[in-house]
Amino acid sequence: MNAKNSQPWDEFLIQCKNRVEKTLQATISQSTPNSKLLAAMRYACLDGGKRIRPVLVYASAQAAEANFDNCDAAACAVELIHSYSLVHDDLPAMDDDDLRRGKPSVHKAFDEATAILVGDALQALAFQCLSKQNNDLSADTKIRMTAQLAEAAGAFGMTGGQSLDLEASGTAIDLEQLESLHKLKTGALIKASVKLGALGAEKINESLISALENYADNIGLAFQVQDDIIDEISDTETLGKPQGSDRAQLKSTYVSLLGLEQAKLKAGELANNAIRALDGFPESANHLRDLAAYIVNRIN
Ligand code: IPE
Ligand code: IPE
Ligand code: MG
Ligand code: MG
Ligand code: MG
Repeated sequence: MNAKNSQPWDEFLIQCKNRVEKTLQATISQSTPNSKLLAAMRYACLDGGKRIRPVLVYASAQAAEANFDNCDAAACAVELIHSYSLVHDDLPAMDDDDLRRGKPSVHKAFDEATAILVGDALQALAFQCLSKQNNDLSADTKIRMTAQLAEAAGAFGMTGGQSLDLEASGTAIDLEQLESLHKLKTGALIKASVKLGALGAEKINESLISALENYADNIGLAFQVQDDIIDEISDTETLGKPQGSDRAQLKSTYVSLLGLEQAKLKAGELANNAIRALDGFPESANHLRDLAAYIVNRIN
């Protein structure tokens, strides 16, 4: 069953969030008999988070005219990887942040060892979820989805970007280096979300694939530029994570390199590029267009 193309954005957002919440609940609750680990995994994943990556999976599926039932596992898997990345990102060895999604980070609510293990377990669960998905997709498509997510999560993607981010902390890098770093640490998983949604259709035309890739590259970068902006201008309560963390850690960000006003212009420009990439595509791409605007207008 799919959302209607003409459905208002707010309704679409709620429908997608409800879908992924249900899949996450079911997937995590069956993942381990270890009650401490299970409690920590639930804590990390089930309470809070904007669920932007799963929403992207569904919005891309809609543009590709895929059945949403074929995308539930993918939507769940990208959120599992993302949640794991946040648990590790907050650890003292990384950003050392004590607040996440409006509550103490996993290493604070539990302990550091548990936070490391939660990340390990959520990552493995994401791939289990894709490999065991029970829907109409061919085995070949399921393997392609698994490979896409592995590439986006690993050393060529998010993990590689996190490594560059840590290396760059406290050092001067240029805009080109920052862009490559952002594209990996945040862009890779966002791009994978778009691709996984489209794969839910099994076959899509080449022109839509290249438009979606162009769209994803632009919103992926826009997402992290906006994240850098809100770290500077939002407050801790709105963010649900510590305001000013980047500045405190001497992180290279779009704001530190370009200044706030230029960073805002950059985010807007990237969102416009993303929307333009979809020119000529029908109403079915409208929620992707809405999502591009949402990403750069968000304050948390
Ligand atoms: C925060 O991601 C980390 C980045 C990749 C910038 P989100 O802003 O999507 O975090 P949640 O999932 O809503 O908590
Ligand atoms: C982290 O980027 C992105 C990942 C977790 C991969 P940030 O360190 O900027 O994310 P926040 O601001 O802590 O959410
Ligand atoms: Mg970080
Ligand atoms: Mg961080
Ligand atoms: Mg940040």
